[in-house]
Order: sequence, then C-alpha cells, then structure tokens
Amino acid sequence: VTYRPVDSGTFFAEPDAALYVHVPFCTKKCHFCNFAITTTHNDDLRERYVRALIREIEAAPDSVPVPNSRVSAISIGGGTPALLESEQLARILDALRGTFPIATDAEVGVEFDPATVTPTKARELVDAGFTRFSVGVQSFENDVLDRANRAHDADRAREALDVLGAEHRERRAFVNLDLIYPLPGLTGDAWLEGVGHAAGLTVDAVTLYGLEIWPKTVFHHWRDNGRLGLPERDEEVRYHLRALELLRAAGFRPGAASAWLSPDSSGPYCRYLDVVWSGQPVLGFGVSSRSTVGARSWNNVSSIAGYVQAVDERRLPIESGCHRTAAQSMRQHVIRGFKRGYIDPDAFAAEFGEPLGAVFPSQIGAVLAAGLVSERDDGILELTDEGRILIFNLVHVFVEADERSSPAAAHIGVAFDEERQTT
Ligand SMILES: C[S@@+](CC[C@H](N)C(=O)[O-])C[C@H]1O[C@@H](n2cnc3c(N)ncnc32)[C@H](O)[C@@H]1O
Ligand code: SF4
Repeated sequence: VTYRPVDSGTFFAEPDAALYVHVPFCTKKCHFCNFAITTTHNDDLRERYVRALIREIEAAPDSVPVPNSRVSAISIGGGTPALLESEQLARILDALRGTFPIATDAEVGVEFDPATVTPTKARELVDAGFTRFSVGVQSFENDVLDRANRAHDADRAREALDVLGAEHRERRAFVNLDLIYPLPGLTGDAWLEGVGHAAGLTVDAVTLYGLEIWPKTVFHHWRDNGRLGLPERDEEVRYHLRALELLRAAGFRPGAASAWLSPDSSGPYCRYLDVVWSGQPVLGFGVSSRSTVGARSWNNVSSIAGYVQAVDERRLPIESGCHRTAAQSMRQHVIRGFKRGYIDPDAFAAEFGEPLGAVFPSQIGAVLAAGLVSERDDGILELTDEGRILIFNLVHVFVEADERSSPAAAHIGVAFDEERQTT
C-alpha cells in the first residue's frame, strides 16, 4: 500500500447533489410521449398532489438516505409542471428550501409547453426563484404539431418564446427549447428551417431530440399499421447532420450529447443534468421519480392515486430499488458520460482503480472505429456529430445483454420494444 499526501479540501469534499420533482399533468397526451402523465383536469387532484409532494419532501430526512452535500440544482419536470399555479410551484420550492441545504446560486429549472407560457407566469416564476425555463416546441409546423397531438400551434410557440426571451434579456432566465426530428409530416427542409428559426431566437440552448417510438404510444400503433410515414433512416441521419452544421455555422457549441448552447450563453446547459450524468446524488420526488445516492437507486410508483395514498398514509411511495455492482457502476459511468458528451479516462481510472481501455476494450474500440467517438489530444473521448445523433445506439454498446431493456438499434425512427432504459 502506498500512502500519498492528500488535499483534505478535495479528499473530504462531498459532491454537489440535485433534487428532482415530477409533476404528471399535461393538457393533452402527445402521440410520441411515454412519460407518466395524466390529462385529467381536476384542480382538486392537482392540489392533493402538491400537498403529497410537500409531505414527501419534508419527510425525506427521516425516511431515505439524504446526502450531506449542498444542493446545486433543482429540476421540476414532467409532464408539464407549468400547468400548476405559480403559487403551487413556489410552495414546492419553499418545501425543498426548508428541507435541504440549497446553494444560494442553485439552478432552479421548470418545464413548460408553449400553451402554458404567459408573461405573468414567467414573471411570477422568476420572482419565486426559478432560473431555468425549458419549453417543448418540437416543431414550428402546424400540421406536424397537429399530427403529434400537441396542445399548441406554431404561433403559440413563437409567442411563448418571445415571452421567455424577454425574461432572459431582462432577468437573465436561462431558456432552452426542444425540437424533435423526424416527426410524421415534417419534411427535411422544414426541419432545417425550424432549426434555423430556433437559432435566431433569444435563447440559451436548443435541444435536438431524435424521435423515440415507445410501446403503447399512438405513434407506435401507427408504425405497426404502416401509417407513421417517417423518412428512411439514412435520410434522417443526413438531415440531423445538416441541422448540426447549421447550428455550428450560427455559432452554437455542444452543451451535452443532444444540446447546443447559443453563442451568447455562458452555459452550462443544465446543472441538474450535470449532477445526474456525473453520478452525484439525486433525490427524486413525485410519481415515477428516480433517486440515486452512491450505488443505490430507487424509483417511486407511477400511479398518481397510489402515490397520493401512500404519502397520505405515511408510507414510502417507492416501487423498486437496486444496489449496483462495481461492474454496473462502471457501465453507468460511461453511459452517463456519453450522454453528457464526453468521458475522461483519467477520471474513470481514479474512480474505479482500473483503466477504461482495460475494462471496455472491445466497446471503446467499436465506438471509435464506427466514428461515433473521437479521442482528443488530452485523451478525452468525445462524441462526434454522428455519435450525438446516434447516442442511443452508442450507449447501447455499453449495456450488458442481461441489462438490456431496449433493442440495439434504438434510435431515430426505430421502436423501443420494451421498457424505457433507466440509466
Ligand atoms: C417533459 S417534456 C417537456 C415539457 C412539456 N411537457 C412539453 O412537451 O412541451 C420533455 C421533452 O422530451 C422530449 N420528448 C418526449 N418524448 C419524446 C420522444 N418520444 N422522442 C423524442 N423526444 C421526446 C420532447 O422534446 C419534450 O419537449
Ligand atoms: S406535453 Fe410533454 S410531457 Fe406532456 S404528453 Fe406532451 S411531451 Fe409528454
């Protein structure tokens, strides 16, 4: 054994933690969406859910392993959390602040769909302490939005982005918008036009998702009946690549595997996701949320009624949990790193005591040979543009056969036939 001097500051430092709150309400169910949500509009149910969330949050220090570390990011996601009243979201935030040591400069994010964005709401949420707004636009084409069963049209999306852009300019709110390609009815040229339009807006980030087709969604059903009408895979990849070229030409830079930061944004893309992708502690609240502390992870139930009842009866609303082996932790480290955009082999070796290349020789060789990853001069392995587009295929190389919950070609235009991969 070799004893070396250590820097006590870093040796004993606890990594930052993050908090996630799931809000399962939406105006309409989009035809591609697989998230745990309900479209029931019932103010009483929403209020009971908010109260259950607050109770679950306040009980956490006595019921689950709570990390000692300071919280540097909070994400309220969904679903469409902005469907809640600002006052309800502020109460959830107060409960988190009263329970956990939250950094004064913590990122506090919330998700909107364009139909939920109003100047009043945006202002109230910044007043309440929200610092990051993410809005699902998906497309700027009306018939595409219609066919995906979105709750808004293209004009509403543009209005929403104007409102959020004003909060960005005046009060420094971070603004991200999501787009998806392919979608039924969306031509490659219209996709590029939409990406070009997004690049010209006052936003910090644009996230480009490849369409995932999940079982039990309307799109999955259409695909089975030959009614989905998506372009050939080569064409999808070509148009995705052209979108990345377009963003680069507009001065955007990668912020994560699928996310692009605007030239004016100082970043980071999302501190909450940085915590998740670095394997640091995350506590989740609400239906279907996932928590991870060290090698342990656990999931909450996905039924709203079951969740509210469990919390009301002072039971943990947890459905399942796992304790990862060292081999599983190594795979998770690599998968999460690539979702962030890169992995540092030195950090891997420092954490696990074994070189990355010795643990995953064939996998690393395969993704390098396929041109999905390239090695920088400083040894960092980063995604190429192809790797960004084929990120699901890429990370799948690192999932062991016995852990696979989705088939290898699980990316754009290709269906996931089993459950969502949870890493
Ligand atoms: C929780 S939603 C965002 C907020 C809001 N619910 C909305 O849809 O506008 C997160 C994002 O996931 C993406 N997403 C959801 N389902 C997807 C799928 N099947 N394929 C690709 N992206 C998907 C969408 O871009 C969506 O904006
Ligand atoms: S609004 Fe967002 S969370 Fe709700 S169904 Fe559509 S994509 Fe899913």
